[in-house]
Amino acid sequence: MEFSLEHLQPKEHASFALRSLYETAGCRKYHMGRFEEYSLYQENRSFLSSEQVITFTDLDGRLLALKPDVTLSIAKTAQPVPGETLRYYYHENVYRPSAESHTFKEISQMGLELLGAVGEAEVQQAVCLAAQSLAALGAEWVLEVSHMGYLFGLFDALGVPEAARAQLLEKLRQKNAHELRAAALSAGLSETAADALCGVLELSGGYAATLSKAAALCRNPAMTAAVAELTALAPTLGKAGGSIRLDLTLAGEMEYYNGLVFQGYLKALPRPLLKGGRYDLLLQKFTPGAGAIGFAVYLDELDRLNAMPPVQHQDTGKVMLNVALPKGRLGDKVYNLLAGIGYGCPEDYNATRKLVVENPAAGIRYFLVKPSDVAIYVEHGAADVGIVGKDILTEAAADVYELLDTGLGRCRMCVAAPAGYRDDPSRPVRVATKFVNIAKRYYASMGRDIDIIKLNGSIELAPILGLSDVIVDIVETGTTLRENGLQVVTEFMPISARFIANKASYQFKHRQMDTMLEKLRDTLHKQEEEK
Ligand code: PRP
Repeated sequence: MEFSLEHLQPKEHASFALRSLYETAGCRKYHMGRFEEYSLYQENRSFLSSEQVITFTDLDGRLLALKPDVTLSIAKTAQPVPGETLRYYYHENVYRPSAESHTFKEISQMGLELLGAVGEAEVQQAVCLAAQSLAALGAEWVLEVSHMGYLFGLFDALGVPEAARAQLLEKLRQKNAHELRAAALSAGLSETAADALCGVLELSGGYAATLSKAAALCRNPAMTAAVAELTALAPTLGKAGGSIRLDLTLAGEMEYYNGLVFQGYLKALPRPLLKGGRYDLLLQKFTPGAGAIGFAVYLDELDRLNAMPPVQHQDTGKVMLNVALPKGRLGDKVYNLLAGIGYGCPEDYNATRKLVVENPAAGIRYFLVKPSDVAIYVEHGAADVGIVGKDILTEAAADVYELLDTGLGRCRMCVAAPAGYRDDPSRPVRVATKFVNIAKRYYASMGRDIDIIKLNGSIELAPILGLSDVIVDIVETGTTLRENGLQVVTEFMPISARFIANKASYQFKHRQMDTMLEKLRDTLHKQEEEK
């Protein structure tokens, strides 16, 4: 068979296209080996997405690592001289742990770094090349832009304590309004300051309109400078040809970013394909006074572009919102609410064994899934949105937006034990639970050693049969505990059903999601008032 470029995989095509783009822009290829001194990662832990790294000892006894990241190695060795801007691109494999497969994965990355003298022109060039990279991949795309300076400026203006910042950034990243407010208040912020922080959630949408809203809310020079930088970018971004969104909730996933940050999405891919930003502080560890901006393209994500179009991508002539609906009581409640606001289907799913029902005219499709799987469907983009209990969401640690607390299915996560139970500190507590991660985190926060016994249901049996000392489980009415001679020892987490969304779907279907959310909020509010 003759070799033809048509036989190339999408990621191979992409690597040619990106290479040509970066070479034409005057960037030079930076080649490096697969290994790096482990000490580099030890000293720059906060730069990595995970602290887990594959290490081994070299023949001379040095501890080496298989690279989990390329930028750190370039930052260490590039050493630009004052006034010089180095323009590099790379195509390398990195090795990172994968939560899904519980092992390390080899990840193919292409990326670009501008190092040294980095001013407005270099920032514009980097962001412009990020947009052009997305445009070169042959699918509809969105570039989401944000600025860490704006958020940090706001934190300073509101007097947010250092210790609370990471948690608030996380809630912002999840677009989790209800928990953001609660976390702000418990960090000691006033009601007004908490409101101001929640106001950042409104700063998401079309670039120009969002930027003018953000400009009106500036409180100090740091915020004004961030807005000025974003404003200077507008003409360049306007020419990029794709959809550019400004989202000030997008806090860098790695805390080393200090200025502009951005993420790129391609339609039909469930995760961002491109991530980048400005990281002057990191480069200054190696080259004082220098600046840096760069991004990475995760080429392996492109493998999914060739997948057969699944049911959710079938063309109905309308944008369809795919909803993961938990089978059972909670799902029925939510479905009835949604049907009441125009999202009903002609077919009654409870009258059939069908797992997909839809109403193309209303632009809605439901997948009937096991409650414990809702977050998985949404995180992987098989569904755009879903309704899931906070217990399951926390246990799965899914990377999704948490857009609304529906207040439905209220209960609480508890430690429970037989009446008269006393903790014996001379040995680990034996804990039976479905929620292994939640239980581990809770006891770790108490500094108490435990042995976990993972069960899948009827947890209350475990202490009765001597299988465990206590259970960690949800309690709603308390009947199950009572009827089995158990009592609550501690309540530590309120639970209710949350409306979640896939982060990539949100980029392309935010209008549909926002409309549904608004109607849902209204109905829930009315129901609350009628009570
Ligand atoms: C849940 C939970 C408790 C019970 C609490 O069980 O695990 O057993 O509900 O509700 P209550 O406080 O109102 O009695 P579920 O019905 O989900 O069944 P499971 O035993 O299979 O987990």
